[in-house]
Amino acid sequence: MSEYRTIKVATDGGVTIVTLNRPEALNALSSAVLEELIAAFAAFQADDGQRCAVVTGEGKAFAAGADIKELAATSAAQFYAADGLSRWQSHLVRAVRKPWIAAVNGFALGGGCELAMMADLIIAADTARFGQPEIKLGTIPGMGGTQRLARAVGQARAMELILTGRMMDAAEAQGAGVVARVVPADGLMDAALETARTIAAMPPLAVLAAKEAVHAAANLPLEDGLVLERRLFHLLAGTEDKAEGMAAFIEKRTAEWKGR
Ligand code: CAA
Repeated sequence: MSEYRTIKVATDGGVTIVTLNRPEALNALSSAVLEELIAAFAAFQADDGQRCAVVTGEGKAFAAGADIKELAATSAAQFYAADGLSRWQSHLVRAVRKPWIAAVNGFALGGGCELAMMADLIIAADTARFGQPEIKLGTIPGMGGTQRLARAVGQARAMELILTGRMMDAAEAQGAGVVARVVPADGLMDAALETARTIAAMPPLAVLAAKEAVHAAANLPLEDGLVLERRLFHLLAGTEDKAEGMAAFIEKRTAEWKGR
C-alpha cells in the first residue's frame, strides 16, 4: 500500500516502481511531488532487497515540467535562499547509487525531460515527446536540461531545442542519444520492467560500480575517468561475487550473487 498522495510506489520482486500520479496536471512536478520522490528514492536506496527502480507517469504525460503555478508564485529571493531545485540533483541523482530507469509514457517536457535525463537510462513509448519549452515561459531549464541535454545530444541540437522549445518525438530522441530504447506504447511497462529485472538480477556491487564509472564519463577528463574505472575494476576483483561469477562461468553453472 502506498502512503503517498502525488506518486504511487509499488514493488515487483527487487524492482521498485514509482508512478507520478497527478494526471490532472500532466504530472507537473510540484514541491509535494519532489518531497514524495525524495522519500521514495531514500526508501529504495535503503532497502537491500531493492536493486533497480522504474519511474513512469500516470495518464498521457510522464511529466509536463515543473509546476508552473508554483514557479509563478516563487520569487527570486525565495529561490536563491532555498537554493531552489538543488534537491533534485542531491536526492535523486547524487544520493541514489542504485540504477533507475525512466519509462517515458508521454510528454516529458521541461522538468519532466530533466527528470527523465536524471535516470540512468530512458525507455520510451513510441508516443513519447521530449522537450525543454521553458524559453516560452521567459525562463530556462533549471533542473539540468542545459547540461544533460547538451551532453546527450551535443551542443548544436541542444541549443536548437532549448532556444526554440521544439519537442522531439521518441524516434528522434533515440537517434539523438537521449533514449536507450523505444517500444510500442502498450508494451512500455513490460519492456521497462524486463530491463529492470535483468539489472536487478546482476551482481549488486558490479552494478553500483558500473553506474558510478559510466556517470564519471560525463564529469571527468578521460585520464581521470580511466583511472576511476580501473580502481573500481580492481575493487571488484576482491569481491566474492567476482569469484563466484568467474567460477560459475568456468563450471558452466548459474552464478549466485551475494552482494559482497
Ligand atoms: N505545471 C502546472 N500545470 C500544468 C503543467 C505544468 N508544467 N503542464 C500542464 N499543466 C496542467 C494544465 O494547466 C491543465 O490544467 P487545467 O486543466 O487545470 O487547466 C492540465 O495540466 C492539462 O494541460 P493542458 O490542458 O495544457 O493539456 P494539453 O494536452 O492541451 O497540452 C502540453 C499538453 C503541451 C504538455 C501543455 O500542457 C504544456 O505546454 N504544458 C507546459 C509544458 C511546460 O512549459 N513545461 C515547462 C515547465 S517549467 C520547468 O519545467 C522549469 C524547470 O526546468 C525546472
